[in-house]
Amino acid sequence: MPPALAPSALLPATLREDFPILATMARGKPLVYLDNAATSQKPRQVIDALSRYYEAENANIHRGVHYLSERATLLYDETREAARRFINAASSREVIFTRGTTEAINLVAQGFGSAVLRPGDRILVSTLEHHSNIVPWQLACARSGAEMVEIPIHDDGSLDMEAFDRLLDARVKLVAVTWVSNALGTITPVAELVRRAHALQVPVLLDGAQAAPHIAVDVQAVGCDFFACSGHKMLGPTGVGLLYGTEQWLDRLPPYQGGGDMIETVTIAKSTWAPLPSKFEAGTPDIAAVVAFRAALDYLTRTGVAAIAAHEHELVALATERLAAIPGVRIIGTASPKAGVVSFTMDCAHPHDIGTILDSEGVAIRTGHHCAQPLMQRFAVPSTARASFYLYNTPDEVDALVRGVEKVRQLFA
Ligand code: ALA
Repeated sequence: MPPALAPSALLPATLREDFPILATMARGKPLVYLDNAATSQKPRQVIDALSRYYEAENANIHRGVHYLSERATLLYDETREAARRFINAASSREVIFTRGTTEAINLVAQGFGSAVLRPGDRILVSTLEHHSNIVPWQLACARSGAEMVEIPIHDDGSLDMEAFDRLLDARVKLVAVTWVSNALGTITPVAELVRRAHALQVPVLLDGAQAAPHIAVDVQAVGCDFFACSGHKMLGPTGVGLLYGTEQWLDRLPPYQGGGDMIETVTIAKSTWAPLPSKFEAGTPDIAAVVAFRAALDYLTRTGVAAIAAHEHELVALATERLAAIPGVRIIGTASPKAGVVSFTMDCAHPHDIGTILDSEGVAIRTGHHCAQPLMQRFAVPSTARASFYLYNTPDEVDALVRGVEKVRQLFA
């Protein structure tokens, strides 16, 4: 059985019981799941919402006059309203459901590539970015003749804001930056980035894949033009995420895909678009995932994102202190503030070996480049070992991680 300990005095004592998978025995040991930045586990409430949908609520949305279609449409639209509240968007027209962060960023990048960018224009991205906030912009630049420019970071993994100021000029048509680094956990100063960019009328897209699960998100307070996140990293199912965009920008961008539900009128010669948000939601979406995402948003709201953030902060501080005390361990990314992640290397073992030994102890971490190769190049490492925490993790699990890393040292040093 997993530790019966309350994750934290800040969180409900029974919280772990909501996550059936945490009772798994992995390699004969209680599972210690520290790969939450890759995907979170799901509470019973989300699993039940998924099966309830298929057992009792399944129909296509926005198409039928019959009972089930009306019910499915209502549930789908209620999730949109819950998502709007969760990120504090001004209107549910500004909340587009996508498959996840990657699709959300591709939607904006494709629109910018055809409707905004011209030869000589620039897009600023930082060294911290996940590939999904780099490659879509490269594709948009290749189509438009625009170019990408990198905002560098300091040795601790924080953004170099002076360099940002130097790079921000009239050629820049968009700043696309992560809110929380998936590989290091660095929290970037998003409100300040937006303030400086907007002073030059430059819009800002925030990759919120690692922010929405871990810290309070208020898109109006931050003032960003676009924000993207993924349901599966925030207790929800795979296959659903969202794009927030201001109405002004979403009205200006062309549709991402054509098909059913995104049109107003169609003739063989020409079509006109449905109003927001339908304009960007062609075809039948993953309705079940959207409906169950509501249960995840409710769970996070009920638990309290601030309490979750404080809990993770304790775990990250504890893990950092204990790991850094082990000879030969190098923590990569020491900026403050950080959310949920401890990335490290060892002088005696490759990250892949660290991950394998930890796995034999039932401890799940991620090893590799974390889809952030430019960041690995910046730190001159091919990869790191990454432990990433969430609301259900406990100090006992930090102990298990540390014991596993000590075992790696005994075996390899
Ligand atoms: N982007 C996810 C991660 O950081 C998959 O692991």
